[in-house]
Amino acid sequence: MEKLDHKQSSVTPHVLIFPLPALGHLTPMLQLAELLCIANFKVTFLNTTHNHQRLTQHTDIEARFEQYSGFEFKTMPDGLSEDNPRTGQGDVKGLMISAIESLSTSAEPLLREILLGSSETAKITCLIVDGWMSFASDVANEAEVPVIIFRCSSASCNWSYYCIPKLIEAGDLPIKDEKMDELVDNAPGMSSFLRYRDLPTFCRNQNTSSCQDLQDWFNGEIQQNKQAHSFILNTFEDLEGHTLSLIRSQCSRVYSIGPIHAHLKYKLGQQKTTLSNNFSSNLWEVDRSCISWLDRKPNKSVVYVSFGSLTVLTKDQLREFWAGLVQSNKYFLWVIRPNLIIGSELDNQTPDDLLEGTKKRGCLVKWAPQKEVLAHRAIGGFLTHSGWNSTLESIVAGVPMLCWPYFSDQQVNSRFVSEVWRIGLDMKDTCDRTIVEKMINDLMDGNKDELQRSMDRMSYLAKKSISEGGSSYSNLNQLIEDIKAMSKKGEH
Ligand code: UDX
Repeated sequence: MEKLDHKQSSVTPHVLIFPLPALGHLTPMLQLAELLCIANFKVTFLNTTHNHQRLTQHTDIEARFEQYSGFEFKTMPDGLSEDNPRTGQGDVKGLMISAIESLSTSAEPLLREILLGSSETAKITCLIVDGWMSFASDVANEAEVPVIIFRCSSASCNWSYYCIPKLIEAGDLPIKDEKMDELVDNAPGMSSFLRYRDLPTFCRNQNTSSCQDLQDWFNGEIQQNKQAHSFILNTFEDLEGHTLSLIRSQCSRVYSIGPIHAHLKYKLGQQKTTLSNNFSSNLWEVDRSCISWLDRKPNKSVVYVSFGSLTVLTKDQLREFWAGLVQSNKYFLWVIRPNLIIGSELDNQTPDDLLEGTKKRGCLVKWAPQKEVLAHRAIGGFLTHSGWNSTLESIVAGVPMLCWPYFSDQQVNSRFVSEVWRIGLDMKDTCDRTIVEKMINDLMDGNKDELQRSMDRMSYLAKKSISEGGSSYSNLNQLIEDIKAMSKKGEH
């Protein structure tokens, strides 16, 4: 296989990349790694053994990166037991914090070895690390290696994190039930449309002492942000320029370089080599049979339904979605991941009318080639959990969304989708077959033209931003130049 040749000199930058071990974080950081490989950087990528095994099993990840002689994977255990479900069930923030704690214990020796023990030639120029993992930043600070924080969620969500300590100070959290639909006063730049209901989910159901924990956590985050060299955000100026300027008022260097998946595709297209064009990262086996099913459907007639890699549904929620989809009389392609349903796989008690409706108009798969599906001419709408990667992929493909946010950043994203960008509808906090049916019909018929018009424009702007001369294109070049300058300064 053709390799990108590294003309390595003593000042070739060597970047260490460390993602949070969840698919929604791993995917854009692998894409960033590839963008830096194309810029001829050396890249060491830290992956957990669990995810690495699954990626190797379901994606040609090794072949994809073999093309870059300066790229290397290093793996370590994630510290969780093999039977840990690794989904977003229950207390998500608690789960995340305990997963990060386990990871910090198992990753720290390797991090220390790489950051503190490297020979002169292997020296790391900078660490690009997921914003949730301050333990890694601490080791880098000790080694005097600059830290660039990669935040995998939207700028809007990140700005809401900045607002949390002030919201707590003002007594706005814990959220009172009767205030859920009121606008949030203490969220500068968002107070004309953001309701308490739209804040990240961990702002709900807190008591006063857990609010204190939240305040400490986010104050710590803000402090850590101040120490970092800069930030990378997977977004673009035409989408979130206003919020980006608010973030820049707190930390000056922010590189918005997204949508990263489209950016990578564009850069690969510019290469004169025959580099792989397959940059998906799958932790489950992709079922491509849905593409031939889509080929047989009329243009824009199918609703694509997927809730990402972490969302879980109760059986009741599953039945409500299913009944709503069948009652809408639309074609639907639904990803039912092996661990999507709490407690079990699909059972035998599914009512006949649902089975009948699915046979006529549905296609169920365990995992789909999502970007390819969204780009298919037969897809007319996307029922999504509003994960940030899915949102950006939908924007690039120009597919309006019906949002059912599940946790964390998704609540903020879905509000921006519906009220600010007007490229979709938001059905947060409801899961009832009549509402599902009605909103699918609004998405595919009633509000179709209006949503499609604003989506077409946003999709055009997304592609413009990552093309030569666009804002994300220029920001990535700037990031590359700034890392090169670090490398010259440190003369390694
Ligand atoms: C998580 C968080 O939940 C999300 O809110 C955060 O912004 C990023 O990390 P996840 O829930 O998995 O991610 O959602 P999302 O960000 O949308 O990522 C899912 C990825 O899986 C997408 O890249 C999507 O293309 C891919 N996918 C999903 C498939 O390739 N096939 C499928 O069948 C379903």
